[in-house]
Amino acid sequence: MQFEGSSRKTVLNELKKTCLQDKRYDDGKILCSMCTKPHPIAQKAYMMFLNSNLGDPGLFPGSVNLEKEVIDQLSSLLHGEGCKGFIVSGGTEANLLALLAARNMARIAKAEVILSESAHFSFTKICSLLNLKPVYATLDSDFKVDASSVEKCVSQNTVAIIGTAGTAELGVIDPIKRLAQIATEHKVYLHVDAAFGGLVIPFLHKVPNDFDFSLPAVKSMTVDPHKMGMAVIPAGGIIFRDSKTLDYIKTETPYLTDRYQYTFVGTRTGASAASVWAVFRYLGVDGFRRIVNTCMSNTQFLAVKLKEAGFKLVVEPTLNIVAFRSKDTRVLAEKLLQKGWFISYIPRYDCIRIVLMPHFKRRHIHLFLKDAIETQKL
Ligand SMILES: Cc1ncc(COP(=O)(O)O)c(C=O)c1O
Repeated sequence: MQFEGSSRKTVLNELKKTCLQDKRYDDGKILCSMCTKPHPIAQKAYMMFLNSNLGDPGLFPGSVNLEKEVIDQLSSLLHGEGCKGFIVSGGTEANLLALLAARNMARIAKAEVILSESAHFSFTKICSLLNLKPVYATLDSDFKVDASSVEKCVSQNTVAIIGTAGTAELGVIDPIKRLAQIATEHKVYLHVDAAFGGLVIPFLHKVPNDFDFSLPAVKSMTVDPHKMGMAVIPAGGIIFRDSKTLDYIKTETPYLTDRYQYTFVGTRTGASAASVWAVFRYLGVDGFRRIVNTCMSNTQFLAVKLKEAGFKLVVEPTLNIVAFRSKDTRVLAEKLLQKGWFISYIPRYDCIRIVLMPHFKRRHIHLFLKDAIETQKL
């Protein structure tokens, strides 16, 4: 490759132009994403720690402390004590580390993992990478995993059961308490994927809180600050109940400042941990509760208005996700996409799915409803 250098101004102008090609959360048209515009304090904090590499922690003790503090805060939000974990590249890496630990602990040749049909697609990649056989349990009529189906899937080869607290498609919470009973009975590792729900459920008034480390069987949890935590990407979170679990995921490093590394990604920015830390410190629990309450009241508003307009909800929303159908949902989805609304169409449920993230304001909802109702009539 051959290229000449350019002036700072040229570089920045070119980047500015290119940046304009990207969609912006502020426009209120992105309704399909579980990420949002990072909180201003998160952006500021991120910029302060551009130098930091948590892959070589001995050089960056300040960043290490920030990461420890946010893991402690996330753990206590999820009723864990003395947990250990990391701010990783996302929910995929967090789920990967959990299953790596479970697999290595069990040391079973033909290892199997029990997943619900609604488990995140990251588990498909992970099972392939770790050579695990996924065994799928069916869903009940509320789209939660059917615990009796999970029980039937347990075999001598089961190394882990996965529950999801806030499924990516419908925002449903699996019956984690029942899964915990099954895991205890069969002495199997239980991981809860709360990548999305982990920073929503603790702030809700109505939803039962028994989805987390308050259940002794829950050995690890995924909770992603780069989703409802409004941190800068990449900021996923993996938390292990027991620090001894880390022994099953550690790799010896021949030349770095720490003898072991525990994450899949080697060189990783400490700026992510700083951005999470800043949002937590700035908003506190009350600030998060306010934001989640707003998202939830927007969710209720959208759900009610859609029903009034004759659309059918797939399920009443538990978290800030609305999934609905019309007479011809696929066609409606295509037309809404043409009108510039970035919605997801989910073939499996034949529904349109809207994630009500903090950037989706009431004024955007009115515009969306108007378009959806008009388009449905065409
Ligand atoms: C429940 C759940 N788990 C895992 C993931 C994967 O997270 P990431 O895309 O950050 O790797 C997602 C992403 O939306 C998710 O919703």
